[in-house]
Amino acid sequence: MEEQTVYSLRHEVNPVFTTAQSCVRVMAGLGDEDSGLLVDRLDFDANKNSTATTDEVDLLNKVKSIPGFAETIEARFECSNKLIENLGYRFVLDIPCGYTSRGLKLARKDIRYYGCDLPAVIDAVKPAAKGIIGGSGSISYHEVDATNYDSIRRCLDDVRGGLLITTEGLLMYMTQSELEEIFVNMKRLLTEFGGVWITTDNMIISSQQAIMAASMGEEAYKEAVCNLPDPPPPLNLFLDVDKAPEFIDRMGFELERVSIGEYMPDELLTLKDLPEDKKREVKKAMGVMEFWMMKVKPDSVSGSYTRRATNFSADCKRENDRLLFRLSGRIDTITSPDLLSVYREADDKSIRTVRMDMKDVSYISSAGLRVLMIMLGDHPDNVKLDNVNEDIMEILRTTGFDSILFDEE
Ligand SMILES: C[S@@+](CC[C@H](N)C(=O)[O-])C[C@H]1O[C@@H](n2cnc3c(N)ncnc32)[C@H](O)[C@@H]1O
Repeated sequence: MEEQTVYSLRHEVNPVFTTAQSCVRVMAGLGDEDSGLLVDRLDFDANKNSTATTDEVDLLNKVKSIPGFAETIEARFECSNKLIENLGYRFVLDIPCGYTSRGLKLARKDIRYYGCDLPAVIDAVKPAAKGIIGGSGSISYHEVDATNYDSIRRCLDDVRGGLLITTEGLLMYMTQSELEEIFVNMKRLLTEFGGVWITTDNMIISSQQAIMAASMGEEAYKEAVCNLPDPPPPLNLFLDVDKAPEFIDRMGFELERVSIGEYMPDELLTLKDLPEDKKREVKKAMGVMEFWMMKVKPDSVSGSYTRRATNFSADCKRENDRLLFRLSGRIDTITSPDLLSVYREADDKSIRTVRMDMKDVSYISSAGLRVLMIMLGDHPDNVKLDNVNEDIMEILRTTGFDSILFDEE
């Protein structure tokens, strides 16, 4: 398949939103040299890999100017880098790596860095980083889907020792079933290699609120937020900090929580012009953010959750004006472009109905649902599924697809 075709299929099934640009853009704006070099090379505004609409970019620019936003991003980024170095692991899996400069910084310290993200991000960040650091053996970038174990495991063949997994900016977007897949995958990796998984993903909103209040002053903060709508309920159990410890325990991990304040650099660029007492106040608020550090429980059995098949195949045949698919395996970010490509090749003006036998499909992610939406766009009311398993049925019910994808009884 031509490179441009592969690229556009990937984007169709899984667009990358501007939130993935926040960290590198904020850090570049603050004068961090590596981030500046990356932003220049990524050239988001002109780059074919940026799917951001003008509205999204405007929104990003507005969000960047909210008091407390840059402070939160800088504190998390710098404290994570320091924690990673202090913990002493030589192998770091950053999932999702986005476009940040973490890889450049760690590779220079001889820490082996694996940057993993969706294909559309890797398409852009891999050549940009290579252009800056050259062909260093300490850094590599890989196309993965965090819910797809095999896609991650195959990047890690040269890991020799404990693995540190860092996750920044992923778990808050995951549905409960995606979250569970990711926990199972991280547990498998840490069971094999040993090590720890760290994230601040369930702390980011509460800590940003504390940092905003300290930066703006309590009164101005209250006024600024009083007209905002209530935040939506948490998408998954990890985001509910009261329920999360029990969930983590159930998934076979032990948890340690550490304030990022313990890893705060003396100087932060966002605070450099503040008077000393204000600086102290904002730094104290930053300490509200915690690293959630998870290790596999020594006594935990990995069989409590069934692994699902990860292969994928799509057989497609045509019967008069019908396309009949027999699918098997997982329909996720990695495999959805294949499904879309098979469909596009087979679909022509004479096709009226698309029918898919899902008997051997174990999992469908939002990228897979997007392919269904594309098919439905082409054939309203005429895309039908058969033999869907109960887990996938639940996803279809939650997303409202169940009312259109099945024959009426
Ligand atoms: C908010 S960004 C965070 C990126 C980076 N860690 C940072 O701090 O800038 C979210 C990232 O998650 C990636 N992502 C979303 N779903 C994913 C999945 N299923 N597997 C791997 N990465 C995913 C997106 O491509 C995006 O780069």
